[in-house]
Amino acid sequence: MTIDELLRTGAGRLAQVPTDSPRLEAELLLAETLSCERSQILAKLSREVTPQEQADFERLLDRRATGEPVAYILGYRDFYRDRFVVGPGVLIPRPETELLVEFAEKWIKSAQVSRPQIVDLGCGSGCLGLSLVRAASGSLLALDSSAEAVATTRENARRLALDQQTTVLQCRVQQLRPASLPEHWSWGEVDVVVANPPYIGRHDQQLCPWVKKFEPPEALFAEDEGYREIGEWMVVAAQLLRPGGLFLLEHGANQGERVRNTIASLGEFNQIQTYRDLSGWDRMLAAVRNQKSPTRI
Ligand SMILES: C[S@@+](CC[C@H](N)C(=O)[O-])C[C@H]1O[C@@H](n2cnc3c(N)ncnc32)[C@H](O)[C@@H]1O
Repeated sequence: MTIDELLRTGAGRLAQVPTDSPRLEAELLLAETLSCERSQILAKLSREVTPQEQADFERLLDRRATGEPVAYILGYRDFYRDRFVVGPGVLIPRPETELLVEFAEKWIKSAQVSRPQIVDLGCGSGCLGLSLVRAASGSLLALDSSAEAVATTRENARRLALDQQTTVLQCRVQQLRPASLPEHWSWGEVDVVVANPPYIGRHDQQLCPWVKKFEPPEALFAEDEGYREIGEWMVVAAQLLRPGGLFLLEHGANQGERVRNTIASLGEFNQIQTYRDLSGWDRMLAAVRNQKSPTRI
């Protein structure tokens, strides 16, 4: 059998799984099987595969057929400009989250902030904060309550050669205090806070069952119909940011209005705006810390 024939069979099998891109997934899984890049298999479509390679590919297809995400099978996901290691226990980076990195990168450039101090709340794989610190050449404090997430962010920082400018803490956002900040970091002096908290309500019926089955619940679900972490994390962001600092928060498609109202009611931010993702859904809140000294807790 040739690579081309195997890809057709694989894509046919993956068409049974809920995915928008069975052919692409088949290509990625075959590239993994043959230990090469996807572009290399596409350049050799007429090459014959061995029975062993065929059997190895079938095993990956079987895993995918149970709904296991491709990123967990491959052990990585490409996000923004880099490749991030991921595994079960860590949320797979989503394309819509790139909106936060793009926005923050432009903001840092136009505000001419040199060597920005960036905090990533609920860092997961580290995709948000690490992408940003790479683009903006600043320093990063990333934190997450999950031990797997902390280990994965550290691993990604090391692989991307960003470990010198990155500190990763295992900590609940709500428990962050001035005394828990590492050296050179101070309450009320951070330039940018990015956050992608869990924001799905526990009884949300629209969540894809495969996401629920394979991805970590603490990365997905929050109490109060998905609003609890959002509300509590924005208070912490207000403590961390310097006057004029930027807060970016990812939220669910139908949460824009309530999130804007909640942050406005704190009285700590201005320039509060919701931005849409490429599919046209409300996805990100941007707000700027007021020009007065931050509230102490
Ligand atoms: C939606 S995921 C985002 C992961 C990553 N930032 C991304 O965009 O792919 C939310 C992350 O927040 C972490 N988390 C949930 N509740 C937390 C809390 N109270 N304090 C700190 N981290 C928390 C989860 O472990 C998870 O890694």
